[in-house]
Amino acid sequence: MRTTISVIKADVGSLAGHHIVPDQLLDIARRSLEEERKKGIIEDFYVTSVGDDLQLIMTHRRGEDNKEVHEIAWNTFKRAAEAAKDTGLYGAGQDLLKDTFSGNVKGMGPGVAEMEIEERPSEPFVVFMADKTSPGAFNLPIFRIFADPFNTAGLVIDPSLHSGFTFEVMDVIEGTVVELNAPEEIYDILALIGTLGRYIIRKVRRRSDGQIAAVMSTTRLNLIAGRYVGKDDPVAIVRAQHGFPALGEILEPFSLPHLVPGWMRGSHYGPLMPVGIKDARPTRFDGPPRIAALGFVVHNSRLVGPSDLFSDVAFDEARRMAGMIADYMRRHGPFMPHRIEQEEMEYTTLPGIMEKLKGRFKPA
Ligand code: F6R
Ligand code: MG
Ligand code: MG
Repeated sequence: MRTTISVIKADVGSLAGHHIVPDQLLDIARRSLEEERKKGIIEDFYVTSVGDDLQLIMTHRRGEDNKEVHEIAWNTFKRAAEAAKDTGLYGAGQDLLKDTFSGNVKGMGPGVAEMEIEERPSEPFVVFMADKTSPGAFNLPIFRIFADPFNTAGLVIDPSLHSGFTFEVMDVIEGTVVELNAPEEIYDILALIGTLGRYIIRKVRRRSDGQIAAVMSTTRLNLIAGRYVGKDDPVAIVRAQHGFPALGEILEPFSLPHLVPGWMRGSHYGPLMPVGIKDARPTRFDGPPRIAALGFVVHNSRLVGPSDLFSDVAFDEARRMAGMIADYMRRHGPFMPHRIEQEEMEYTTLPGIMEKLKGRFKPA
């Protein structure tokens, strides 16, 4: 059976700042998707939130980039945004950049990760959802999952993973994409994906049969809107087990809270802290950036689950390390490399300051 998993998310309003989606909005989203499920557009759904982002996890049989599915996501966000506006919630409708829906939510503000698959007899997968960071946050862990034998034992000892994976890397500035093969081209892959603000892993496929293994959202809101409208907190879908990396190989890279851009005002590097959903409420300096992971299986397009994967105490040490790194980074205040580089700042407040001081720069 062919099933499509669509994860579509948007920040449509938060409580007391940018850190949590109130229950009221989650309820509206659940009611809205339940209506659409009854109409038969989607087969199943799960609604959750990570930080200030409302997450719609949906299954259906209509393929990727389907107009009806995108439209129900858009309408659901609209309904939640209206309620957010009515109750005076903060940042109501923040990620809804257009007034009318035009066929696909891409480019309209929400983030999207979708994969159409031929369901295996058991089809386990993980949905990753990050807040206070941007799509490049997945580059390091996705590389480690699919190309690093020190992370993924299966690359070495499971014949079905041994031929490696193909990485589709997008240049988000030029709007181009390149396919590179691991293991032979890992140095080329790394040469690109170390630049988090520009080269983003968009898809990973298994080389033996071209099967999709992972998809990441790659929208960059700041480039879409031409001005800073919040970081485009990314989502990803990763298939697990039996010919794909095992669940534990998929989660293992997150035991290192690596540095990602985002955090306060989308302008600071900080550690990506793995948390259970209940702890995905970034309040310290609006952070540090969070990543949550839900494990599901999908069967006949129906979702079973989820399991809240980072609530495992085995990630306590990573959280503690993230707290220590957060302390260390914070003590740099407005100095790089805590504050992000100037080019990235151009989407935020720096141009205003440069404009003001323009006439006062004299030849040195
Ligand atoms: C970053 C984020 C927050 C806000 C900050 C200022 O992604 O959401 O750090 O940038 O709280 O928000 P405003 O400008 O709405 O006061
Ligand atoms: Mg936000
Ligand atoms: Mg957010």
